[in-house]
Amino acid sequence: MAKRTFNIPKNFKIGTSASAWQTEGWKGKLENQISWADAFYKAVPERWYEGYGTAVATDFYSRYKEDIAIMKELGLQSYRTSIDWSRFITNYETAEVSEDALRFYNDVINELIDKGIQPIICLEHWELPDYLIKNYGGWGSKKVIEFYLKYVEKVFEAFSDRVKIWYTFNEPIVVPMLGISEAMWYPFKSDYKEFMQWNYNKVLATAKAVKLFREKGYHNDGGKIGIIINASPTYPRSDNEADKAAAEMAELLTDRIYMDPCILGTFPGKLIETLKKHNCLFDYTADELALIKNNTIDILGINYYAPRRVKARTSKWNEEIPFSAEYYFENWSMPGAKMNVSRGWEIYARGLYDLAMTIKYRYNNIEWMVMENGMGVMGEEAHKDANGVIQDDYRIDYVADHLRWLFKAVEEGANCVAYHMWNFTDNVSPMNAFRNRYGFVEIDLKDNRNRRIKKSGHWIKEVIKNGKFEY
Ligand code: BG6
Repeated sequence: MAKRTFNIPKNFKIGTSASAWQTEGWKGKLENQISWADAFYKAVPERWYEGYGTAVATDFYSRYKEDIAIMKELGLQSYRTSIDWSRFITNYETAEVSEDALRFYNDVINELIDKGIQPIICLEHWELPDYLIKNYGGWGSKKVIEFYLKYVEKVFEAFSDRVKIWYTFNEPIVVPMLGISEAMWYPFKSDYKEFMQWNYNKVLATAKAVKLFREKGYHNDGGKIGIIINASPTYPRSDNEADKAAAEMAELLTDRIYMDPCILGTFPGKLIETLKKHNCLFDYTADELALIKNNTIDILGINYYAPRRVKARTSKWNEEIPFSAEYYFENWSMPGAKMNVSRGWEIYARGLYDLAMTIKYRYNNIEWMVMENGMGVMGEEAHKDANGVIQDDYRIDYVADHLRWLFKAVEEGANCVAYHMWNFTDNVSPMNAFRNRYGFVEIDLKDNRNRRIKKSGHWIKEVIKNGKFEY
């Protein structure tokens, strides 16, 4: 097929995303400064791919200048990372700030700005201090919301003169889902009601952080605050009512539990009824619901990798198994779908367009950014050319295809203002560690974690420079 040219929309930014714990390593941390991710790695290092974990990660703590220089070389316009709560604070109850962490994050932010790259900060990308899990039960406790707000206030005070875009959480449902409901991740629990409490408390924490942000006047010079959701466009297997109802329930119990209250100010009635029916409704008060209603976000972040395809349950739910969302649906794979085989995820770029339309029509066309989208691939070393450069044409294809669908949505009025590829460099993630390589830049684990720009990195440089690409 003949190639077409796609222009980057006016004022649209292209950057990359990462998080603190997936890049920094433990250097500079005190012994008691342990995050959820660190605790997970310490609990079961053998389950992490080839033993790689959070201890060194990409060594961004020592090598941030080198990384930011490469970002500049590629022309990247923004960089989303997080502040590691467990590093930034030394006493999680009183929110005493670590001098070393303050210096480190100031240096990183200043270096980014100096190189013309906009820093965007997420306040919790799975870096909940383990102390708050061990002593308070983590996000299941409303006390933790108060500790979070004390920490957030300190972060705003330190950096809001230079950082204008903030996010309260990254993919807030993922750790509770895998760690509190499905017992696959630390702290290995299986309790759906508690899982729902974690979700509710994160919604409430978001509203309280928004309120704090407003009260302190951080909006005044262009500051914005939001949340990053891993929303999956959800497709029923067929048009029959049972399949459509299954898709509706899947969306309600995973995406809309965050998106509706954080953007529209209320939880969907059907979600509340369902949770009540299964004795899993979270504890809330009328005052809290009013606070949520009055403190909705300014900007949304979306992480999109793959669509969700579901069908109505065909086998009867075993009543002995505790309730979970899958009571209402079964996952379904579309025969012949294009797959990222390494990750086992479908590649469906049009899903990003569909999401954009959902945001436009259901969520009042709120301003938003793609905060993660990318392709994790195993064994990329095998794709090196004679000069050692990874020829990741599949990643170029993936990003280009998603960008063209996103640009089509923008043309049709979607209020998306930026695209961030996950990730700038390869990095660790829970258990998969360096298994799935995501970066525009390779981290060579056999050679002192040296950085080498992949073919896709050279490609994105040209795209940004020329303001367009062909596909
Ligand atoms: C996203 C997370 O869902 O998936 C990232 O926000 C994570 O933190 C990414 O690294 C990729 O995960 P994985 O398991 O494919 O390495």
